[in-house]
Amino acid sequence: MSDLGFNKIAFCVLGTGLMVIGLNEVSHAFFHTEHHAKAGWDVPVAEVSSGTGPAIVEGPRDYFKLISEADVEAGKAVTAKCVQCHKFEAGAAALQGPPLYGVVGRDIASLGFKYSTGTGSLSEKEGVWDYEHLDRFLENPKKYAPATLMSFVGLNSRSTGQRDRANLMAYLRTLTPGEPLPLPAPLPEVAPAPADGATPPADGATPPADGAATPAAPGTPASGAPATPAPAQPGQH
Ligand code: HEC
Repeated sequence: MSDLGFNKIAFCVLGTGLMVIGLNEVSHAFFHTEHHAKAGWDVPVAEVSSGTGPAIVEGPRDYFKLISEADVEAGKAVTAKCVQCHKFEAGAAALQGPPLYGVVGRDIASLGFKYSTGTGSLSEKEGVWDYEHLDRFLENPKKYAPATLMSFVGLNSRSTGQRDRANLMAYLRTLTPGEPLPLPAPLPEVAPAPADGATPPADGATPPADGAATPAAPGTPASGAPATPAPAQPGQH
């Protein structure tokens, strides 16, 4: 083979290599944005059953603190995940979901809208959309109301979920012609030891999280899960 031939081949190989790299870059960029644009919906099933699901805080949440420290503008930005199905303007009609203007403080499932019905539905829920209810629903709609028609995975990122929900609720509470729903009283910093004879909560009163109650085989050192401390025996001085 002549030198010229070899050079041609080398050139081709080099060229092909560069092209592959180039294509890779392009497709990467393409799929990347596509993925982002759709993130958030499309996946109606939340990751609740696996042990690595979102960190759901089971204890009381301090909505006074969460909302008074929230960023309303950032909350408005979160509605980008809702506008496919909800309108936020006063007097707007329903889309796939009911309009959300004035939702904070509104009775749950109270508009002329075909809400889910029956067991685990929104229609069955009592009460108003206060911060607690909104927070739990938006964190994981299917956990809050298993029969809900809202096909939305929830704002349940371990790192930003609570912040997003607080910001969003702070924005939603501004969507009213009147006074926004008042914030609840702040929670006490640390639960103080009961001063008088009031019955203390037995064990911190934290109910076990779903799926967290898998009993370890006897003899298995249950790391991080010590047996319940023996209850104090009252009245046996
Ligand atoms: C894929 C469509 C879809 C998306 C996305 C979606 N929703 Fe919904 N939403 C619905 C539907 C449908 C309902 C009615 C649910 C039912 O009846 O069970 C609903 C109900 C609600 C309700 C109850 C309203 C009432 O009148 O009781 C609230 C609050 C709500 N959505 C908030 C949100 C927020 C906030 C977001 C964005 C973070 C969002 N939704 C994203 C479809 C959606």
